[in-house]
Amino acid sequence: MTLPITDEVFKQFRDFIYEKSGIFIPDNKKYFLENRLGRRIQEKNFKGYEDYLYNLKYDAGKNELAKLYDLITTNETFFFREPQHFDVLKGELLNRVISENTKAGRRDIKIWSAASSTGEEPCTIAMVLLERPELNMFRKEIYASDISESVLESAKTGIYGSYSIRNVPDEYLKRYFANTNQQYTLSNNVKSMVKYMKINLMEDRDIKALRGLDVIFCRNVLIYFDDKAKQKAVSQLYDALRPNGYLFIGTSESLHNVTRAFRPVVINKVIIYQKI
Ligand SMILES: C[S@@+](CC[C@H](N)C(=O)[O-])C[C@H]1O[C@@H](n2cnc3c(N)ncnc32)[C@H](O)[C@@H]1O
Repeated sequence: MTLPITDEVFKQFRDFIYEKSGIFIPDNKKYFLENRLGRRIQEKNFKGYEDYLYNLKYDAGKNELAKLYDLITTNETFFFREPQHFDVLKGELLNRVISENTKAGRRDIKIWSAASSTGEEPCTIAMVLLERPELNMFRKEIYASDISESVLESAKTGIYGSYSIRNVPDEYLKRYFANTNQQYTLSNNVKSMVKYMKINLMEDRDIKALRGLDVIFCRNVLIYFDDKAKQKAVSQLYDALRPNGYLFIGTSESLHNVTRAFRPVVINKVIIYQKI
């Protein structure tokens, strides 16, 4: 049975989650909190939502907060999601980055998957880079981050189920995965290219760790934020990009009302945002 939350405590909880993570839960989604947090409250013997919130704010410190992030985030992802983005990356976009970095004397290519969930997105990027042998002359750095620790732990195993790999083209499946009993294990050359870290897009301090990125993928996370939180996240991404660096957002997302600091560039009908 779900544990009911009063309107007043719902608002306090919603504001706390928003302030910490940028995730905005509208009034009509009270059931979302009840579904996601009710069981945790019972498991940990809290007296109710108010008691749990008090604990998150004043007592438990970081462990329970990390658990809260695991519970409230939606981590849906799979390899080659929105495959047109990876076609563009593999072709024209990497051509541009190679030529811009060569001209500027940069010997590395740095790409960041800024809400990587269980790792399918950064590992798709890694596979795409491996398909371009001329990149051997560059040091390739792929960073992957998320607010949820449990998805990062899962990503580090490099083991995936059939749902995750359903969009992977056959030739990639053969080259980069070992398949045993419906489990797909990523090859070490892909796994070793990706560095996982915990980064909350609302925390200035977290993001300052990354600078000079050529390309950022920040897809299917801005949809959970309101305009103010989107502005904050996107301005952090802006600072992390090198001059003229590129940003991918999800196809159902938009930077309208969020920023004018990027120039939209259209390649094969895909919109990519270039830092001005
Ligand atoms: C739906 S998944 C998207 C995964 C992948 N980018 C994709 O497009 O397939 C959204 C991810 O954003 C993460 N997330 C939510 N709020 C965040 C925040 N404030 N900072 C960093 N990551 C966040 C969630 O934990 C979740 O794993």
